[in-house]
Amino acid sequence: MGYIGKVHLRNSQKIANADLEAVADVSKRALSEAKRAGAKKTYTDYEDLLKDPQIDAVIIGLPTHLHTDCATRAAENGKHIMLEKPIANNTSDAREIISTAQRHNVKLMVGYPLRFTKVFSDLKNRLITGELGDVVTAYAANVSTGPFMHRAQGHAPIPVPDWWFRRELTGGGALIDLGSHMINLLRWYFGEITEIKAKLGYRFNLDLEDQAVCLARFESGTMGIFNLGYFSQKYQVKVELIVLRITQLLIINFLILWWLQCRCYRLVLQLFGSRILLNSNIF
Ligand SMILES: NC(=O)c1ccc[n+]([C@@H]2O[C@H](COP(=O)([O-])OP(=O)(O)OC[C@H]3O[C@@H](n4cnc5c(N)ncnc54)[C@H](O)[C@@H]3O)[C@@H](O)[C@H]2O)c1
Repeated sequence: MGYIGKVHLRNSQKIANADLEAVADVSKRALSEAKRAGAKKTYTDYEDLLKDPQIDAVIIGLPTHLHTDCATRAAENGKHIMLEKPIANNTSDAREIISTAQRHNVKLMVGYPLRFTKVFSDLKNRLITGELGDVVTAYAANVSTGPFMHRAQGHAPIPVPDWWFRRELTGGGALIDLGSHMINLLRWYFGEITEIKAKLGYRFNLDLEDQAVCLARFESGTMGIFNLGYFSQKYQVKVELIVLRITQLLIINFLILWWLQCRCYRLVLQLFGSRILLNSNIF
């Protein structure tokens, strides 16, 4: 029942075939808020909630270092899981969560809301139909306050929980926090990443990076550029695609060869490449 927990609580109450049964949190204040918001039961130890036979599925919005324990215990108790991103703060824990969910035959979903944001799901459909042509380069940016202001929740700054500034608990800074959203989205569009390089920035002298720029190649051949950082008061999420429309490319190639005896690919790109810009303000 921290920042994202409250978002999930509100949203779960809008789902017609779901009942909000219980909330677990170490904070008594959070639990009384949950009661007021309609939770039938509250627990201070999530282990007790996970043993509750009335519960079929759980949403886990705990600090990242607690994801592994809570998600594996949920799976062992046969609960389906919606787990907040990033799945864990290191890859071996992430694999453990996935294999435990598989072993216990429960559904596991990691919270990447951009896939359900209309502008980005529409883009996925347009990529599937091939309407956009060949995507040469994809630029994805995710820039926000990060933990410097707790998700710009209020009009005045409120204290940010300490765990957000400890690398061993978060697994990292802007790259894992904001970057995982954009990497997840572009992998959905263009397939697995076959190569990636990242440069990290530490302008605020924290233990974790406040900036990351990555260059990636996807199995589709598309190149990706990721621009991530904790340096904007406004939450900005953007995808920009440079595409070649293949029918136009073939026609112009033909004309150029026949007419100008020129094979200048760059010229074709300049003339017929398109830029598609998508912005989303989801929070
Ligand atoms: N999908 C998204 O866009 C998105 C957005 C924000 C946060 N998140 C993720 O959600 C997770 C939580 O982030 P947050 O900003 O809501 O954190 P937060 O610190 O605001 O909330 C964490 C909550 O967990 C409770 N808690 C801590 N230890 C506990 C324990 N042992 N047992 C029970 N409850 C405990 C705290 O009291 C608090 O209410 C993080 O992994 C973060 O990356 C995802």
